Amino acid sequence: MRAWAIANQKGGVGKTTTSLCLARGLATAGNRVLLLDLDPHASLTRAFEIPADPPPSGTHDLFVGNGVGLLELARYTHVPDLQVVAAQPALATLERRGATQPGLGLALGRALHTVREVYDYVLMDCPPTLGLLMVNALAAADRLIVPTQTDPLALHGLADMLRTAEMVERSRRRPLPRHVLPTLFDRRTRTGVASLYELQDRYGDRVWPYAVPMDTRLRDASALVQAAPPDGRGVDMYRRALKWLLEQEAAGEQHKEAA
Ligand SMILES: Nc1ncnc2c1ncn2[C@@H]1O[C@H](COP(=O)(O)OP(=O)(O)OP(=O)(O)O)[C@@H](O)[C@H]1O
Ligand SMILES: [Mg+2]
Repeated sequence: MRAWAIANQKGGVGKTTTSLCLARGLATAGNRVLLLDLDPHASLTRAFEIPADPPPSGTHDLFVGNGVGLLELARYTHVPDLQVVAAQPALATLERRGATQPGLGLALGRALHTVREVYDYVLMDCPPTLGLLMVNALAAADRLIVPTQTDPLALHGLADMLRTAEMVERSRRRPLPRHVLPTLFDRRTRTGVASLYELQDRYGDRVWPYAVPMDTRLRDASALVQAAPPDGRGVDMYRRALKWLLEQEAAGEQHKEAA
């Protein structure tokens, strides 16, 4: 099993859309995939149109020690081989408890360990805040994917996010390979194009050399998880991004084996 965290401390950069598109792509390619919604705002959960709102069980259960495991929390979706664990609003209360309860920072890593033979990939959609949930995801992840909107303000958010990743990497003493995915790209604006070049200049081959364009067909998250696959340029570019991420992963693993 490989765990990917999809995170950025900045809001609205395409984390949830990226999580959905990559998870769907991985499942379509024959992998057993689990998606975890770690955001109390639960946009990913809503995309799956889970009947109970708020859902009675979900990622919050992993942090409260009530004995409910990941396998019991995973729900089937319309997409074969894709399962999801919902987010409950109670996740928002965790940040306060995390400060006082030792070991809570590693709860997610422990939960993932129990399903390492069950899934090929676990993707974690993180909230746009640096706190207990994001730190849990970064501590448990084998790889970090940072969707970044192609505008000048988003570049600051990206620098903060990469600093956080470095900090977590140092404390867990295990490399955390990270990749930047430019999103919401509008080629008609000068700032969009300039930001894309700036990203590539600053972060080199950590950056996917293309960008997911603005595409209204990506606006409806629930369409991304229907049985019939959606189409359009945005979805196509996510397919290409996934291919690149898998190549990066394979190259990283080869390198590790050779070392
Ligand atoms: N490439 C795109 N083209 C058009 N709309 C997009 C694209 N990517 C995402 N969106 C839309 O932009 C909004 C923000 O995207 P998304 O929810 O994926 O971001 P997020 O980083 O998860 O946000 P949050 O920080 O609030 O969790 C959503 O309405 C989404 O449907
Ligand atoms: Mg989101």
